[in-house]
Amino acid sequence: MTARLASRLALLGQRTPRAFLASHWHKQALLVRAALPGFAGLFTRDELVALAGRDDVESRLVVRDGARYTLAHGPLRKAEFRALPARDWTLLVQGINLHSDAADALLRRFAFLPYARLDDLMVSYAAPGGGVGPHFDSYDVFLLQGFGRRRWRYGMQDDLTLKPGLPVKILRRFTPQHDAVLAPGDMLYLPPAYAHDGVAIDACTTYSIGFRAASHTELAQAFLDYLRDRVDLPGRYADPDAKPAREPARIGAAMQRRVAQALAAVRWDRATVERFLGTMLSEPKPSVFFAPPARPLARAAFAAAARRRGLVLDRRTQWLYDDACVYVNGEAHAWPAGDRAALAALANARALSPRRAASLSPAQVALVHEGYRHGYAHLA
Ligand code: SIN
Ligand code: CO
Repeated sequence: MTARLASRLALLGQRTPRAFLASHWHKQALLVRAALPGFAGLFTRDELVALAGRDDVESRLVVRDGARYTLAHGPLRKAEFRALPARDWTLLVQGINLHSDAADALLRRFAFLPYARLDDLMVSYAAPGGGVGPHFDSYDVFLLQGFGRRRWRYGMQDDLTLKPGLPVKILRRFTPQHDAVLAPGDMLYLPPAYAHDGVAIDACTTYSIGFRAASHTELAQAFLDYLRDRVDLPGRYADPDAKPAREPARIGAAMQRRVAQALAAVRWDRATVERFLGTMLSEPKPSVFFAPPARPLARAAFAAAARRRGLVLDRRTQWLYDDACVYVNGEAHAWPAGDRAALAALANARALSPRRAASLSPAQVALVHEGYRHGYAHLA
């Protein structure tokens, strides 16, 4: 067995992704000892505190005092941390994959699920006794232990009622069936709506690999926004057969019929839904800004440099595709002419070797060059 295959199997407790998805995904929790052997986290406490001080990083601080919780949203100043007690608090830093290549690489270890489902990597630092309390999440999550130990109690329960009046979601009743202490490199998978509570034994960090799953209402709202931006119907309301109004306040049946007819011209088909999905899923998070190169190479020089050095996508870039289009950070582009394999490899592996970059067609180079000029892709 190759080392790569061995580490892929270790991640899911000696299961292939296919076996894990069939037996556990959305179905039951899985505790994996030494999922990432030797892993002790990517960030120190001070690095997390520094990230929490930035206004382009989403962070939260949860402090527990008995059954009371207080919540503060970032940016958080260093002085706020100096004022904290020695125990019972936790700092959570969301979307850390957008700020660190190592964190992005860790998130993409889970690319046995499509990028369109991977949401972000959240890192929490907890002082001993710290945690966010017993709760449930609406999404699947892998909880990977960094340095230190954490006790997780978890289980499925029907009653998901929350305690009222608290700034964080806390279950009114918590009846866990499982109890485990996670050491560095251990990992716990929880399906959506599993009750769980992680309490730090030592000062510790936990890496949450989170997934995105829009509610049907969110999908419909986003789809209607998409349609609204593209709707373009000919004509304007007209009533050449108008009669004197006896009840001028009444909205007449003829008007209702005409408007219903006009609106029936709003149409969409499967292709509309596909374009909508690609643009929506590839839309970067609102906090994301790209840094275009200061002196971008012109297309020919860029193509020559890509053939020498290869290409890499910016870690913040969302680059997806379907049969009809390539979706780059919220924009749909019909597949440029040429063999699709190399461009698909760039999207999947998020990098392209010099040899494969040399096989991009001129139209594909044009698309990648456009991305490079925006800071979406870089020369390796
Ligand atoms: C944490 O890292 O403390 C919270 C993770 C979770 O329970 O979802
Ligand atoms: Co949770």
